[in-house]
Amino acid sequence: MTTIHTGQTASLKALLSREGRLDPYPHYAGLHRLGPVCVLPDPADRFDVVVHGYDAVQQALRDPALHVMTGDYPDRRGAQRWRAHAALRTLVKSIFFTEGPDHSRVRRLFAQAFTARRVAALEPAVVRIIERRLDRLAELGAHGEPVDLLAEFALPVPSDVVGELLGVPEDDRDWFPARVRAFGAILDLGVGVWRYQQAADTAAAELTGYFAELVAKRRAEPRDDLVSVIVHGDGELADDELLANLLTMYNGGFVTTTHLIGNGLVLLLNRPHEIKQVLADPRFAAGFVQEVLRHEPPTHFSIRWASADTVLAGVRVPRDSRVLVLLGAANRDPRQFPDPDVFDPDRDQGQPMSFGMGVHYCLGAVLSRIEGQLALPMLLRRFPDLALAAEPGERHTLMLRGYETLPVTLS
Ligand code: HEM
Repeated sequence: MTTIHTGQTASLKALLSREGRLDPYPHYAGLHRLGPVCVLPDPADRFDVVVHGYDAVQQALRDPALHVMTGDYPDRRGAQRWRAHAALRTLVKSIFFTEGPDHSRVRRLFAQAFTARRVAALEPAVVRIIERRLDRLAELGAHGEPVDLLAEFALPVPSDVVGELLGVPEDDRDWFPARVRAFGAILDLGVGVWRYQQAADTAAAELTGYFAELVAKRRAEPRDDLVSVIVHGDGELADDELLANLLTMYNGGFVTTTHLIGNGLVLLLNRPHEIKQVLADPRFAAGFVQEVLRHEPPTHFSIRWASADTVLAGVRVPRDSRVLVLLGAANRDPRQFPDPDVFDPDRDQGQPMSFGMGVHYCLGAVLSRIEGQLALPMLLRRFPDLALAAEPGERHTLMLRGYETLPVTLS
């Protein structure tokens, strides 16, 4: 029988410092030395428990007593100010922050877009989108000048793919990246994110306005896209729910995959001996992408709260606890992945936690893997001499973690 105990104590201070955000991995290793779950006694941490062991993370994401941050949670704590912010209202209305029957209803509707058949049908469009963006890169770098691969490829490719999925017309797609990034800036940990709130609210209002028009058009004249499927399907969605989900789907499907491509490219350029294998062998490319997801995931955490007392890996988690689930740390748990800091595409030691687990498991996991598995080889096949032109812009966030810029030369 497992004994229940109060757990070792830890602090997030070093992890959330500038140095910790730039390189969180030594801090994850420190947490692993303390056990799979720790309590956080310092109120400045703004969480009560941190879960970082691989098995404990799976347990937390499947525990029915632990919930995503539904609106009830801040309301119960008397923190009402979220209602004044368009971006927070949008998040709270979306699938990401919904629970129970409401969550199942919305998830069932949106899952229609991600059936194996629909995702496979999207693959030729993904190839076309990548080719078009490669042509544009070739124009920009034709005379050997550096090009920002993040702005010109890793951002627009997944943005175009989600646009294609939802039915956003091609001519409108370049409007999205700046707004989606402004919206996403508030998702990181720490009080500092409040400074991005106003820009996020403006972006939320603009994106909501855009989707309201798109929904009206597809109601009048359906096409073969997700918005049409949803507005003409049997499911019931209130207008604000529909718009919040279209917006967060765009957000969740896009900058995450951007960083899968960007983080993956830098790893690949640092491992020239593996480029040939990635180009020649789709199975190796799939293993490579899987290892990028483990080693440098675009999302390092999820957040939960406890509606009842529960126990995680033997540690008591009292009702109302705020729980930080460190997916990025689970991926470096030495009990699951021996020599966790070594990048090894041939590993076969279990799924990384990068797409989460349980009822909120990422709906776009298959699609984003396909994007990564196509984009990296297509990029290096087209530009075999592609090289970094300068240090990539640094990574200082744990959510949507990836380079700010990626200057490269193509020839
Ligand atoms: C590498 C790329 C991606 C990563 C790392 C990622 C990561 C995640 C994670 C960790 C969650 C679970 C959040 C939680 O449990 O609190 C999630 C949920 C979700 N993701 Fe992704 N995602 C990626 C790509 C995509 C794409 C391409 C789409 C759609 C086009 C998408 C749509 C969603 C949706 C709708 C959910 C919410 C599911 C639910 O709450 O039931 N994601 N994603």
